[in-house]
Amino acid sequence: MITQLRKADEESIQLAAKLLCGGQIVAIPTETVYGLAANAFNYGAVENIFKAKMRPQDNPLIVHISDISELDLVAQDIPDEAYALALEFWPGPLTIVLKKSSNIAKNVSTGLDTVGVRMPAHDVARSIISACGLPLAAPSANVSGSPSPTLATHVMSDLGGRIPLIIDGGECSVGIESTVVSIVGGQAVVLRPGFITPDKLEKVIGKSVQLAQQIERRLQKDEVPQSPGMKYKHYAPSAEITIISAEYLKFIDYIEKEYPKKCDNIPVILGFEDEQYPEHFCVVRYGLSTDAKSQASVLFKALRQLDEIKAKKVIARQPASGQLGFAVRNRLMRAAAFRQVQL
Ligand code: TXA
Ligand code: MG
Repeated sequence: MITQLRKADEESIQLAAKLLCGGQIVAIPTETVYGLAANAFNYGAVENIFKAKMRPQDNPLIVHISDISELDLVAQDIPDEAYALALEFWPGPLTIVLKKSSNIAKNVSTGLDTVGVRMPAHDVARSIISACGLPLAAPSANVSGSPSPTLATHVMSDLGGRIPLIIDGGECSVGIESTVVSIVGGQAVVLRPGFITPDKLEKVIGKSVQLAQQIERRLQKDEVPQSPGMKYKHYAPSAEITIISAEYLKFIDYIEKEYPKKCDNIPVILGFEDEQYPEHFCVVRYGLSTDAKSQASVLFKALRQLDEIKAKKVIARQPASGQLGFAVRNRLMRAAAFRQVQL
């Protein structure tokens, strides 16, 4: 199959809508990461997503809408708190897990009775959804296991030849996937941390928000995940990454001792733009040392750069502290398969 890469404009948006209405899949930009979209009501169309991405059959997809009035089409028994969150944070990087409507194709929710819903902030994403007049199921547009795409060229390198169309809407501004919060059963639980942090959610619902306890660690053998996505390998470049948890000076001291100039196994540093490192190290940078927002926006691009330069071994500076830093750390920990050295 030939994959067209088209700049987002009126014509390409109409083409995307036409393909989507016809049961095909299209990669679309959102403010978080690129998504691989299909009609959420069409089982066969959704099946195409799983095939193209090589996604495990039991990992459910997020449904994207363009207006809050569409929420009733995809979910039911919607609690007031969900409306409060939607009114505050939509359009934006928040996915709310709700009881699903029977309209939704079975394979979107992979057998669960819930569905994750979000309204993206990217104008092009919402234009495509409203041009179709359909809610769109869309996971990140990467091959399963690789870093989520934040540029149209990332999608091309993962899915070129397997999908008919990629709409290029520029670089994704948030850079990490949406916060996933479940409010099924009355208690708000964050299943995946993201740009909308627990403190912001708590302010709106006026209640405490729990963090799924499995977010921070590797699942044990046979442990049931709180969200299916937790059990899969994620964001992993070919390189072996180790996070070094330490202050800057301790980090420098450690790497100079561990990897002196003449040693033959010098790792690449995944570091920050505003820090200097010893000259004999190759460095890929992800944002500013104390600014989690800048780290989130380029982390996935940096992980792909590590592959481009064929890095084999990588040592990473730890993300900034705070709740958004925690979301960045969550992605980096998974990319590192939880390898970490605490100094
Ligand atoms: O920012 C985003 O959310 C992007 C863009 C394209 O919107 N999408 C995205 O989709 O990251 P995906 O499929 O790569 O990640 C969805 C995550 C998975 O970890 C999945 O397990 C979880 O959300 N999820 C989806 N539906 C769920 C449900 N009903 N219950 C629990 N977890 C769910
Ligand atoms: Mg994904």
